[in-house]
Amino acid sequence: MADLPGHIGMPLFGDCSTEFYKDMMHFINKHTVKHKSTIFSARFLNTPTVFITSHAGVKELLNDHHDKIELGYKAFMHHLYGDNIIFTNGSQADSLRTILTSILTSEESKQHYQDVMKRITEKHLSTLEQSQPIAVYKFFKRVATEICLCLFLDMNLHQSEELSSQITTLTTAHWHGIVSVPVNLKLGPSKSTYRKALEAKAELLTIIHSKLSDRCTLFSETNEDGEFFNTQEAAGHLLLFISALIPKALASLLTSFILATADSPDFQQSLAFDLETLQNTYHEVQRMWPPLVGGRRLAKQDFDLCGYHIPAGHAIVYLTHHAQRDPGVFTDPDVFKPDRWKNSQYDDDDLFAVGNGPRDCIGRHLVQDMVKMIMQKLSAQFAWQLENPEKHSIQYKWLPVLRPKDEAMITFKVREHQ
Ligand code: HEM
Repeated sequence: MADLPGHIGMPLFGDCSTEFYKDMMHFINKHTVKHKSTIFSARFLNTPTVFITSHAGVKELLNDHHDKIELGYKAFMHHLYGDNIIFTNGSQADSLRTILTSILTSEESKQHYQDVMKRITEKHLSTLEQSQPIAVYKFFKRVATEICLCLFLDMNLHQSEELSSQITTLTTAHWHGIVSVPVNLKLGPSKSTYRKALEAKAELLTIIHSKLSDRCTLFSETNEDGEFFNTQEAAGHLLLFISALIPKALASLLTSFILATADSPDFQQSLAFDLETLQNTYHEVQRMWPPLVGGRRLAKQDFDLCGYHIPAGHAIVYLTHHAQRDPGVFTDPDVFKPDRWKNSQYDDDDLFAVGNGPRDCIGRHLVQDMVKMIMQKLSAQFAWQLENPEKHSIQYKWLPVLRPKDEAMITFKVREHQ
């Protein structure tokens, strides 16, 4: 078994976190070329870390070695979220996944989700400014935030505008605390941002608890066989689901969908009635622009991956973005080709955008339903184009959630047959 290429470096001095956060793409490409390997090690966040960028490596990690690794987010996020599934492992994680999945996929939930998504999508589409270009990411973030608050807290933004805008402000302050963590490790704690985030967390939990006690959310129901978690645990999960992360990830996917199809009115129209094209385009958008460029794990024990030895105690960063553009798996990986999914050898399992294996995203069906419903309704009513048509020059901000660096401005025009 080969040793990992790369250098772990000395504590603090050998750390490459600054280089990574300055330009993540450059960092990965530089190390891949330097070590002639898609798997390499470096000191990152002051921890010996293995970077995995190949499709085979990510697939093997998330599926074949799931029992030798644990999720690696607790040290950075637990203080700002409190207990929830992403900080658990083993049988505790399995049972939480079963409980949460049963809530999210019950007939009652599905009906509620369909109604909420339809109502909010139609409301926002009716307000689309047709003559003026709009900042499309911001637009989708508003739509996704409203949908998430209605889905998980049964908030109706019209009826309770004040409370909703209070929650949105709080989730923003909370988010700023989360994204400042890697920077804090480098520059020392930014107390004001962190303290504001903790205060926002406390206020959000108070609102969530009051919603739970008013039995306003599907999470208020208790399981007949008593396996259900208590109110405290339910509140912890709701905090995760209403936090800014999920609306940002949804807005990212929807924005990428719009930008990728902005140069072709006929293709846009086909999304409204051709379900196969809609599905293939959804796959291709996830493949090329995953909202979360990667994930983190910790090795609990030694194991071998793709011919390399991974030592216990190492952190592991897997790069979804790179793995989904692996030329050994996807031909012309940087070209947007929805048709590659038509009658093809690829399927959902070849994507990592919503995770893969036993710890994949429990909201993946909800995400798919939401993105496809919004795109179908949008394309039935509107054609769209980018204000600056040089779409290939769009620069991306990769972290913490992918989005165009500069605001992408889109003009929507009602279709003539409407
Ligand atoms: C576009 C939106 C979304 C994206 C891109 C996304 C992506 C992901 C990814 C990549 C993972 C795996 C993380 C890892 O391997 O470390 C994950 C896990 C998870 N997602 Fe999502 N997600 C989205 C929306 C949602 C929604 C709407 C929910 C809630 C209903 C949700 C709940 C979760 C949970 C609870 C986990 C952790 C599962 C576990 O710990 O076993 N996600 N998501």
